[in-house]
Amino acid sequence: MDAITLLKNDHKDMRALLAALEATTTRAVKKRESLLAKIEANLKAHTSIEEEIFYPAFKQAGSKSDDDKMYFEALEEHRAAGDLVLPDLLETDPSTDNFSGRAKVLKELVEHHAGEEEKEMFPRARKLLEKAELLALGEQMEIRKRELMRG
Ligand SMILES: [Fe+2]
Ligand SMILES: [Fe+2]
Repeated sequence: MDAITLLKNDHKDMRALLAALEATTTRAVKKRESLLAKIEANLKAHTSIEEEIFYPAFKQAGSKSDDDKMYFEALEEHRAAGDLVLPDLLETDPSTDNFSGRAKVLKELVEHHAGEEEKEMFPRARKLLEKAELLALGEQMEIRKRELMRG
């Protein structure tokens, strides 16, 4: 599968999981826990394959300072979602409104980030990288993702 198609499919799954989490109430503790576990696994695998495989290829192919800016902004957004908001949410009691608020913020962060990738970085990557290269990157990411989801 083409790298961009693979990443977009991940985004679609992630949006659905985050919307499902947002729709839960403070009484749905078990459901919140199971959705959050899925979100954590998916988010970690997705950001890892981007950071290990896709982003470096994008940065290397990049030719303008805007490409570099996009790269560094994307990394920073991963950090905000994955290293700050997600760990907080994992430590928050799912029966509280605190949890609802943090889940909403995670959803907004991820949606903003995925939206920027889809509107800016991916179209630019299609210009910078050959079709064959996007296919090869997609294959690498598929393999790596399977590994990460198992572990
Ligand atoms: Fe990303
Ligand atoms: Fe992404």
